[in-house]
Amino acid sequence: MSQVKNWEVNRIAASLGAEIHNTDLACIGGDEVQVIKELLLEHKVLFFPGQTISLDQHVELGSHFGEIESHPNLQNPYTDHDKVFELAASTGGIADEWHTDLTFMEEPSVMSVLHMVTCPEVGGDTMWTNLCQAYDELSEPMKDLCESVNALHDALPHNRTDKMMVHPVVRIHPETGEKALYVNEHFTRRIVEMNANESEVFLGYLTRWVQSPRFTVRYSWTPRTIGIWDNRCTQHMVLNDFEGERIIHRVTIMGDQPRRASDSKYEPWTRRGNKSDTSRQDRQLKAYYRSLSQAN
Ligand SMILES: [Fe+2]
Repeated sequence: MSQVKNWEVNRIAASLGAEIHNTDLACIGGDEVQVIKELLLEHKVLFFPGQTISLDQHVELGSHFGEIESHPNLQNPYTDHDKVFELAASTGGIADEWHTDLTFMEEPSVMSVLHMVTCPEVGGDTMWTNLCQAYDELSEPMKDLCESVNALHDALPHNRTDKMMVHPVVRIHPETGEKALYVNEHFTRRIVEMNANESEVFLGYLTRWVQSPRFTVRYSWTPRTIGIWDNRCTQHMVLNDFEGERIIHRVTIMGDQPRRASDSKYEPWTRRGNKSDTSRQDRQLKAYYRSLSQAN
């Protein structure tokens, strides 16, 4: 593990998360970037309190880790910078369902860099969960089942159910080789190889399982803290237990295509020609596969 002089790393939960002290992220060089990358692979979410950083410096910080992307669906009227996405509680920006960012995209962002600009005096913590541990602690038959199926994700929370993508339920982290359980209650709609009833029960089980407290860390913010998380192997949610304003600035780093743990061995349910092809629950799945065949 590389080191930077004076940086102090404190783990804050058994599963994931570390707080890093004595840092100044406004202008960092190659050594610091390398250390942050290594720490992120180890701890999955990092917190850097006490930063003073401008919008441009925030974008520059993110660009050390890859190309910055704009939000695909939501308007960004609050900042002058088109790469910095602002979420304000007063305008409805409270992400209080568990999610991995933007999983309805073909290549969901690999990481996010969040600047806590304004936070309430009490409440408004964020929780993250470790999707690799959530996978590891499944039973062997459940792991087999999860690895053999895929899930449909959509942008319903942004009123765009037409934006859909199928990803494997278990993905391989491209840098660590770890397996992560890749379904979330916010964007994941359907296990594509199961009928609608089976999918509802199974997906409900998995999305609750990843929220088990022992896989999580809870962070209590102070203003001017930077949080960086690996979006390939975590989920997060804001605790909506506060009053007053809470404003975050976020940049996201362009993504990669989730790599599956093993080959798919089952056909999508809608391709089997069974009667429920015409059922209401299957319409979206059919629309997804129709759009794929039209694109080819
Ligand atoms: Fe998020």
